[in-house]
Amino acid sequence: MGFVVAVDGPAGSGKGTITKLVAEELGLIYIDTGALYRCITLYMIRNKINLEDTDKIQEMLKNINIELKRERNSDKAYLNGEDVSIKIREKAVNELVSQVSHVIEIRENITELSRKIAEGKNVIMEGRDIGTNVFPNAKVKIYLDATPEERANRRLKQNEEKGIKISYEDILENIKFRDNNDKTSNVAPLKQAEDAVYIDTTKMTIEEVKEKIIEVIKSKE
Ligand code: DC
Repeated sequence: MGFVVAVDGPAGSGKGTITKLVAEELGLIYIDTGALYRCITLYMIRNKINLEDTDKIQEMLKNINIELKRERNSDKAYLNGEDVSIKIREKAVNELVSQVSHVIEIRENITELSRKIAEGKNVIMEGRDIGTNVFPNAKVKIYLDATPEERANRRLKQNEEKGIKISYEDILENIKFRDNNDKTSNVAPLKQAEDAVYIDTTKMTIEEVKEKIIEVIKSKE
């Protein structure tokens, strides 16, 4: 196993933005596991695959190919060769991804895929269960948190920059819904690993959080 930094936390806690910056500064490979669940969700919506249809889900997992690539300074997700980086951030995916991520066959498949992507590399991987489930032996574990309102504000700004139109109210409602779903799941629920460093980012700037994470990583190197 290479050097693994596991970053977990709820939607909008700053995981995406900040882990990317830390990756750049320390030369780590950035892996967004949420994007993997989002690709599966998009495939299921397009192919009208039901959450309870285990046979179809198993068949899908055999036929699906997901790749994460870094191209011209932006992170791209490819689903069976198609660039779906924008499509996987849309409302229909937001609304279903949490339930999709709790289907046991899907979680096992994405956990394996996440480990494979990281194999032999020095990575910073963000998600919900990286420190608890995907890499329980990760050298560094961080748990980022912030209030739901602050997280909705951040997601709103991020979406605006990407040209994605979803209202603040819709975002907040979806964040609260997903928090509840993610934390109460029977399958790898969102929770802080015992040995993770907890950071409440509500009142911190991006720069401050980034510096704090780098400090934690350097202390463990
Ligand atoms: O980080 P995100 O909002 O893009 O993640 C989308 C969903 O995927 C989120 O609701 C929970 C799920 N997820 C997960 O269960 N485990 C992970 N390691 C990453 C994401």
